[in-house]
Amino acid sequence: MRIDEIYGVLYQVPTGKPLGLPKRHLGVFGVTRDSGKTTFVEAAVAASGMKAIVFRTKRGEIGFDNAKPLPLFFDERGLTHWKALEGLISATLEEKVHREPGVRYAIISVCKNPTPAKSLAEIHQRVKAKLKDPKLKEFIKEVFTKVDAYLEEVLPQLEKLRGNFSDRLELPEPGVYVEDLEGLGVKSDELQNLFVASLIRKAYEELSGVIIVVAEIWKFLPQDRGSPVKWVIEKYVREMGVVEGWLWLDAQDLRGVDKKHLRSFDVRLFGRQPDPHEIDEILKALPLPKQEKPKPEQIMTLKLGHFFAKLRDKVELTYVRPVWLPEEIAIRVAKGELEPDSEEVQKYKPAPKSRLQEDEEMYRPLYEKEKSRREELESEIPNLRTRIFNELKADFEKQIEEARQQAFREAMQKVEEIKKLWNIDEMQETIAKFKDETANLKLRLEKLQTDSEAVQKIREGLAQLLPNVPSTGAEISKERTMEVTHVEVLTKTIHSDEIEKLTTKTVIGKILWAAQKELPDKEWSEQEVSDAMVEWGWNISHSTLAPTLGGMVKDGALVRIQGRPARYRIPTKKKFEVEKEGSQ
Ligand SMILES: Nc1ncnc2c1ncn2[C@@H]1O[C@H](COP(=O)(O)OP(=O)(O)O)[C@@H](O)[C@H]1O
Ligand SMILES: [Mg+2]
Repeated sequence: MRIDEIYGVLYQVPTGKPLGLPKRHLGVFGVTRDSGKTTFVEAAVAASGMKAIVFRTKRGEIGFDNAKPLPLFFDERGLTHWKALEGLISATLEEKVHREPGVRYAIISVCKNPTPAKSLAEIHQRVKAKLKDPKLKEFIKEVFTKVDAYLEEVLPQLEKLRGNFSDRLELPEPGVYVEDLEGLGVKSDELQNLFVASLIRKAYEELSGVIIVVAEIWKFLPQDRGSPVKWVIEKYVREMGVVEGWLWLDAQDLRGVDKKHLRSFDVRLFGRQPDPHEIDEILKALPLPKQEKPKPEQIMTLKLGHFFAKLRDKVELTYVRPVWLPEEIAIRVAKGELEPDSEEVQKYKPAPKSRLQEDEEMYRPLYEKEKSRREELESEIPNLRTRIFNELKADFEKQIEEARQQAFREAMQKVEEIKKLWNIDEMQETIAKFKDETANLKLRLEKLQTDSEAVQKIREGLAQLLPNVPSTGAEISKERTMEVTHVEVLTKTIHSDEIEKLTTKTVIGKILWAAQKELPDKEWSEQEVSDAMVEWGWNISHSTLAPTLGGMVKDGALVRIQGRPARYRIPTKKKFEVEKEGSQ
């Protein structure tokens, strides 16, 4: 027993001795139905205890009853690598055009310049831009035209599926996982190539201890053509062995398959094959001396589950034990005691699931996922209702507010019209004026009343001092009092800090009053001010006036201008406030 081999699957014919299946890249070939390839893969994966990914590329192709479905993995990054694009291109072009000098450079350029392209759509845009260049060389134009046509067809199909992509490739436990391309809507060969390439690349980057099974390999490793899968497989096969990553191919025959790529698959199992041409290929592939090679009719008549297996350097005739077949029965088949398609053997096989049942199992997890997603969405409905209600409410409130403002504007307009009609503004102004004046009058009335009381007292005092002044109660009529006590205030306000308050009771007051009233802003003589004072009824003699003027000049109340006669003026910077008392 070797740890790098899988046991419990292969039994030597006719000894029944168990044989180890090397853990390597492997190819299993044989005519469909009569050889038992899928049954072998299923059994070997199960016996390996490893994880496996199986692609389902056409309906009804696979056993793998207990396989777990994988979501539709797709990550374009790997496909924007120029080698993948070169694969795409050579899938659409004649090999010899593809080999023209300059084509590879042009391909690298659209993938990498100015930045590494992130998607096929980006590459498509760049290709379209290049095609607009009139200087483009004819054969490169041909290349890009083909790429353009190819992407034109493939990208819309990709877009349709885009919502379903998963960019994570998770295999949580051992067992077989199915990437059901057919079932998930990836049906065209072109698209299947993109998805297989994308997933193998992801596995190459992230997984270890995994077997990837690719059937229908002529689609993915075509002879004399490129494919996006080729370069990924090349990488995978060359480098994944160290992390226990294996690729197993399942094919009816080698027709149309790129032989160059098959060289890396050194474990091979050949089952029943009726085609003589294919038998020649098989015989060539078996490393045996001519006389030891099987006869073509042996290959043509191989029994179900029987394979010529090239295991390392040896070729063995083997019988495959299906997962469902007890080992001792398998050994008896290998020994030739039981026929593999006999009732005694086939009775161990679980009843084939109806298509419906298989589909149900295949899609149940997906269905469950969809269901829980739907439930999640449904649970959001009440929230959604509240949200919609609130939105409607807000909208409604906004409308009401707008209507309100509109109504307000209209009302204001009406008011303006009515105002114009009735002249309300004028009325209001008049009313305001009336109000002000009433208040003023009231104040003045109050003041007059207090004033008249004061005047009454003064009059009474004067009457005692000067008994010959007529003083009758009748004479102190209100009108008279108002006239007599009329107060006039004169102010001069030019740059003055202090205001001197004077009254016309004094001679100085009389001089200043008369000068300001009668001789404003000019220089005057003693005679002129004397004359002015006479006009106010004040007869002041020269003997009083002259010394008073001299005193005022001395005090700074007047400025004397030298001359004959001397003239006077009120200092410009001085301010006097003279109260004239008419009652003197
Ligand atoms: N080793 C085997 N022993 C018994 N029956 C087998 C064996 N291999 C395959 N079968 C049966 O033969 C039929 C075809 O097998 P399958 O693996 O689907 O063939 P293939 O993939 O080559 O078309 C199935 O019904 C399967 O159960
Ligand atoms: Mg099969």
